[in-house]
Amino acid sequence: MSKDHKVFLSEKDMPRQWYNLAADLPTPPQPPLGPDGNPIGPEMLAPVFPMNLIEQEVSTERWIDIPEGVLEMLYRWRPTPLHRAYHLEKALGTPARIYYKNESVSPAGSHKPNTAVAQAWYNKEFGIKKLTTETGAGQWGSALAFACSLVGIECKVYMVRVSFDQKPFRKMLMAAYGAECVASPSPETKAGQDILAKYPDTPGSLGIAISEAIEAAVTDPSGESRYSLGSVLNHVILHQTIIGQEVKKQLEIFGERTPDTIIGCAGGGSNFAGIAFPFVADKIHGADIDIIPVEPASCPTLTRAPFSYDHGDVACMTPLLPMYSLGHEFIPPPIHAGGLRYHGMSPLVSAAAVEGLLNPRSIHQLECYESAILFAKTEGILVAPETSHAVAATIQEAKKAKEEGKEKVIVFNLSGHGMMDLVGYDKFLNGELTDYALPEEEITKYTDPLKNFPQPSTAKSGKW
Ligand SMILES: Cc1ncc(COP(=O)(O)O)c(C=O)c1O
Repeated sequence: MSKDHKVFLSEKDMPRQWYNLAADLPTPPQPPLGPDGNPIGPEMLAPVFPMNLIEQEVSTERWIDIPEGVLEMLYRWRPTPLHRAYHLEKALGTPARIYYKNESVSPAGSHKPNTAVAQAWYNKEFGIKKLTTETGAGQWGSALAFACSLVGIECKVYMVRVSFDQKPFRKMLMAAYGAECVASPSPETKAGQDILAKYPDTPGSLGIAISEAIEAAVTDPSGESRYSLGSVLNHVILHQTIIGQEVKKQLEIFGERTPDTIIGCAGGGSNFAGIAFPFVADKIHGADIDIIPVEPASCPTLTRAPFSYDHGDVACMTPLLPMYSLGHEFIPPPIHAGGLRYHGMSPLVSAAAVEGLLNPRSIHQLECYESAILFAKTEGILVAPETSHAVAATIQEAKKAKEEGKEKVIVFNLSGHGMMDLVGYDKFLNGELTDYALPEEEITKYTDPLKNFPQPSTAKSGKW
């Protein structure tokens, strides 16, 4: 086995296709539904997304070619390195071998540009002149701002209020890339005005910001604006699957067999799916892998919410999606992992969880920050607060391997760095942060109304 600390791939080894789990799920994914409860056709999404991305959204092809123009943009930072975390292993005294895929080396500092450049490219090809979007922590907003600047289209970002106030540097980065960023809810849209009238002091949520960004795109009289989403949807998940495909090649170069455990933090599910889905495919075909999405205990979508049809946004502008959901009106507590404050979960990740292919876990904020600090002191990278959830689960698994005396191979996705999230770290180090256990009544309050929506089938093959 290699004693190297990291493995780079050459550009010619970068995947040339995206992987679509929809082709391999034992129970086919269920369609999005319109307001009348019937499956929606691609034309109903046309005011929101360009048709070339809608085709990807509904595709069940296993492999989809990455256009040369997208590859050209991805070469700016891809392939990303896979590191062995020797120093963390030593600090934990674990027999486990820990690897991390370093997506923080992208220009915006996270995995988000993988889909941002693809979405900007397809919109540009379709003749779109402006993209609108939401952002939680600001990682997605800065990724799309970067991508729009590369292809030469305008970008407007609705940033969740609490992050807008907590993370001023992300706004500045978006401005540097030429994008406009406003706090959400904003007085600029009807969705924003309605929320402000009801809850003037709201910290905002991704669900609200999504409503605003969709409204801004579909009401643009020029017809040349579209909306872009940084997670959740099938085409976004698809674009992230280069991560796991690269990991497979890199593990082979390290001399590793099939990993025992794959871990990623999960907000809308995109970085988790990006690293995990190529391995979920192996699991479907017989490999024994524990695949763990990790979410905040204060926004426990996969671990405590029902699997239901629900809207992806607060103003109910999106179709009904079959997903685990805390209810589209749920406003998560203002924890520092802003990108994990989302009420729903990608329908593909949800379908894999229903099937029993995933082993979701939730962890409290303080344990995540503690874990991130240990990681920074050993491996040197201060990870994004979102990523700290993956680090915490990795440390839990490495400790378990120590107790069991097992030489496990654990791989996690380092989805982003935290160099613009220092306010959260400062508060943690000064003892100003607390954990928040979401009461059951709070979950019931927001999920009860979901019973009025059509219920998706929970049929599964029963193999896992
Ligand atoms: C660094 C980082 N990791 C993870 C996430 C969560 O998103 P997703 O679940 O789509 O990967 C975000 C979202 O903003 C993020 O910025």
